[in-house]
Amino acid sequence: MEKPSVPLLELRNITKFFGANKVLDDIDLVVNDGEFLTLLGPSGCGKTTLLRLIAGFERPTTGKVIMNGKEISHLPPNRRMVNTVFQQYALFPHMTVFDNVAFGLRMKGLGKEEIETEVFRALEKVKMNMFYLRYPSELSSGQQQRVAMARAFINNPKVLLLDEPLSALDYRLRQEMQIELKELQRDLGVTFVYVTHDQEEALAMSDRVAVLNEGLIEQIGTPIQIYEEPKNMFVAKFVGEINAFDGMVIKVGENDFETIVEGMFYRLRKPTTFEVVRGAKIKVLLRPEDMVVSKVNDPEAEAPENALRGVISFLVYKGRTIDLWIQTAGGNMVMATQFFNEDDPDIIYAVNDVVNVSWIKDWEVILPDA
Ligand SMILES: Nc1ncnc2c1ncn2[C@@H]1O[C@H](COP(=O)(O)OP(=O)(O)OP(=O)(O)O)[C@@H](O)[C@H]1O
Ligand SMILES: [Mg+2]
Repeated sequence: MEKPSVPLLELRNITKFFGANKVLDDIDLVVNDGEFLTLLGPSGCGKTTLLRLIAGFERPTTGKVIMNGKEISHLPPNRRMVNTVFQQYALFPHMTVFDNVAFGLRMKGLGKEEIETEVFRALEKVKMNMFYLRYPSELSSGQQQRVAMARAFINNPKVLLLDEPLSALDYRLRQEMQIELKELQRDLGVTFVYVTHDQEEALAMSDRVAVLNEGLIEQIGTPIQIYEEPKNMFVAKFVGEINAFDGMVIKVGENDFETIVEGMFYRLRKPTTFEVVRGAKIKVLLRPEDMVVSKVNDPEAEAPENALRGVISFLVYKGRTIDLWIQTAGGNMVMATQFFNEDDPDIIYAVNDVVNVSWIKDWEVILPDA
């Protein structure tokens, strides 16, 4: 059963200026208790600034930070029940693993025995208890990151803020740590606000993703919503690969409408997000995996209905799938991901093959052409 959503952290009308530079623009965001929420966006869009505002290292120019219904905008970082894990995990190099994790509890003035119990409980959670006497330089980067996690949650924060915590790790380890972090988050029941500019990571780990661009939240939703129903071109292009065709609305019916794409006639389902009107320009968006490709044996024959004619420009073999880049007669470069089966000669492709390209009916996303 779905857990009920209880708001824990709320950002209301947050604006942040650095001098004359508006870095965050009227951000409204509610993070639910126990949620894994990711801020995803390109470099410089304001992700770290937003985290620092939640942590209390920055003050908003306008707006409020609210935790558990109470405003905390004026509170210093150590009184916010929030902890941060940074990209450079910044363990104290001259301290053992134990002392690194114990640091926060010692600052709080806890007794020796209690500290010991808590530190080992935390180290156990990240499977690092055998390493308690090691120094950070004697650990792998993944192990260091785990110790940093233990140090961050030992004070029982309500919210953990994680600023690209895995970006220093190599690809393989990053993927392992993604799963580990996600499990740890479930296990601890702590709310995570996670920052990344890696869209795959965001989709893989999050309950919800907020896509940021130039200080604005472009869209917030589940990974599936963000990927399958992007609200605008920025989100569509930033989150995964997408093909965008220009279309023109020529006739509007009750449930569908007629449009021309690359000179071909299409009848498409009406979008629910905006009203299509005759004469309007639209974008027809399709993910590479939604494209349907078939080889053309007789190039003289006309393309079938709802298909564009094209030529394979290049291809990348990926094992289970193959990525095709197809130059269409209408001048688009279409990316299509197809399952690969070496036993089926009809789907063994080569550069310069002539193909028909269409897509799985109703899987297109229609956006107004801004
Ligand atoms: N202390 C500061 N003083 C002035 N400008 C700042 C300050 N901190 C950040 N900025 C500016 O605010 C904008 C947002 O920066 P921020 O660090 O939040 O981006 P980011 O999304 O975290 O980027 P990245 O993915 O590169 O880490 C940038 O234009 C940056 O130059
Ligand atoms: Mg940053």
